[in-house]
Amino acid sequence: MTAANPLIVALDVPTLEEAEGLARSLQGHVGWFKVGLELFAAHGPAAVTAIGAYGPVMLDLKLHDIPTTVERAMRRLADLGVDLVTIHAGGGAAMVRAAVDGLGDGGRVLGVTVLTSTSDEQLASMNQPGADRQVPTLARLAVEAGAPGLVCAPRDLTAVRAAVGPDVVLVTPGIRPAGSGDDDHARAATPAAAIAAGADLLVIGRPITRADDPAAAADAITASLD
Ligand code: C5P
Repeated sequence: MTAANPLIVALDVPTLEEAEGLARSLQGHVGWFKVGLELFAAHGPAAVTAIGAYGPVMLDLKLHDIPTTVERAMRRLADLGVDLVTIHAGGGAAMVRAAVDGLGDGGRVLGVTVLTSTSDEQLASMNQPGADRQVPTLARLAVEAGAPGLVCAPRDLTAVRAAVGPDVVLVTPGIRPAGSGDDDHARAATPAAAIAAGADLLVIGRPITRADDPAAAADAITASLD
């Protein structure tokens, strides 16, 4: 991995001022900062540039469009200085290849498999197989199309690792330290359990960002991995 600390803190806040305040206090306590749709919608590329001053950025835009559009968007993002950028693996092999080509050396593409908010009932209503069948298929598709990493739920880590081998970077959200609530996660995993199941990087938001002392919360999570 590029950094020893596997924590990616999700800066899910509406203003750059709040995001920068968190980034400032968490610099050196986490490995990456995740800029998501909320912050990007509010501040655009300036959010990436500003947060990038505090550490490597995961830009979580989950792109899904025709290959040409995704490639052209990725070319613009490559100039921004991101490290990780998400796309939907369900966009298909040609779209994943276009994303990887567009980003080039400007970062690493992560393929998102099936969102944790999508139930098997929802998939069935669209004549699609359940997540258990789709996730390993999408993971293999994305990796064969050139994606160096994937995003999947903790419960899918074992199957995804088995499907794509040891060299692919696996990133997982849905992490809750032992003893804390699940918020809206259906099946949260502890940081240590997610790493044991094959995760390389852990996306964690509220348990860190809403703590009284975010840096101490991040340090406690890192210590729980030893
Ligand atoms: O719940 P937490 O604040 O740790 O969320 C961190 C990230 O995990 C969010 O930015 C979102 O991308 C993802 N998430 C998810 N499923 C949920 C809630 C959040 O994948 N149910």
